[in-house]
Amino acid sequence: MLGVTEKTLRNWDRAGHLRAHRHPINGYRLYHISDLHGLLGRLAELPEAPRPGPQQLALDLLGSDTPTQHTNAEEELAPCHWTRAVAMDPKHRPQKWDHPSSTVRRDWRKFPQEAHVLDSKEQRYRRFTAEEIALLQGFEPQLIQLPELTERERIGALGDAVPPPLARRLVSAITSVWSWTNRTSLEICAGAGGLAEGAAACELEHLLLIDASPTCAKLLMHNRRWPRSIVVQGDVRKHDFSKLRDRVGLLSGGPPCQPWSQSGLHGGDQDERDLLGSMPELIVQLRPEVFLFENVPGLAMFDEGVYLRQLIERLRRPNHHLQYGVLAAMFNAADFGVPQIRNRIFIIGFREAPGLVANRCFDEMGKLMSHRDPATANGSVPVWRTISDALTGRDDPGGWRRWIGSNA
Ligand SMILES: C[S@@+](CC[C@H](N)C(=O)[O-])C[C@H]1O[C@@H](n2cnc3c(N)ncnc32)[C@H](O)[C@@H]1O
Repeated sequence: MLGVTEKTLRNWDRAGHLRAHRHPINGYRLYHISDLHGLLGRLAELPEAPRPGPQQLALDLLGSDTPTQHTNAEEELAPCHWTRAVAMDPKHRPQKWDHPSSTVRRDWRKFPQEAHVLDSKEQRYRRFTAEEIALLQGFEPQLIQLPELTERERIGALGDAVPPPLARRLVSAITSVWSWTNRTSLEICAGAGGLAEGAAACELEHLLLIDASPTCAKLLMHNRRWPRSIVVQGDVRKHDFSKLRDRVGLLSGGPPCQPWSQSGLHGGDQDERDLLGSMPELIVQLRPEVFLFENVPGLAMFDEGVYLRQLIERLRRPNHHLQYGVLAAMFNAADFGVPQIRNRIFIIGFREAPGLVANRCFDEMGKLMSHRDPATANGSVPVWRTISDALTGRDDPGGWRRWIGSNA
């Protein structure tokens, strides 16, 4: 009757949209027919245009949901999820064609403005495709063209990724201040592989990439510069890294950032997703030459900076026999030619080296900045790239890029 997954029904139940009653004997969920009709009536009251399918309507009305099974309805995300009135209302702030993009987060369905763009005259709008979102983040679109993944899964995985051009500059800055004994790399919490792309572009040989998400594991095995066989879908906390001890040049990754992000739970080091806090132990196990961890800017603000300061102290001396020169800094991908404003904190450490080496590395990063904020005084480099710079002139297969005008 509704054409939605069990997970959606559970979410609706929790949110109070469609309450289930338990069968007294077998415990199955039962629904009153009047509740079903009531819900269908509310769905039918949604605005006419643009006209998505029934499942899409349901998801739009009731918020984000990630069904576990692929269905045609999921694959065919409507080209636009907004009515004209909503898209054209300035308070909804869709992205602007003549500006750099803002991030399109993993849970962009809760923030639809992130996936919609207004044209330069602000009279037409449309939704980005996953390939366009990849381009705006500095990814080659073919890296995410994986038919077995839904549009939503691909966008979600990108939402957490470090833009590869920024990652490439970081690893190149590391390489300019460090002579590798092992020109190798191990990527934990590898996500869609943004950071890993940077290491590969600087000719570090990957020994292993690990991520818990099946979607990310599939993306990491698709069209990459490293062999599929070294990608592991698994939990970093349970993986046995003993064979890689003393073989890793660069240990890098994005241990989960949810505890720090503004939409997260702010659970700090009590949060079970605080993998970042367990990095000193992993470093003791692996003894990498250099480590590079990324996180969201909220990390520096959390607990008035105390958490980050204490973590850096622990990373400087992970045990009595190991010492690293460690620093943290924030960089914006837009300063490195990515048409997207995406700030990330990077914590970097060099084995048995003074903090000065990390300092020199970040100085090198400063020299690699190729673009600047237009609000700053005139400089020697061009202003930030915009959505228009990245997308104008691209093909329009299947009408995905169809604009919806204010008079449509
Ligand atoms: C911020 S993203 C990493 C983005 C990545 N650095 C990039 O540039 O594409 C964090 C990733 O950590 C993964 N993750 C979370 N907990 C994990 C765990 N216990 N073991 C392995 N991976 C985990 C998530 O699946 C997610 O893909």
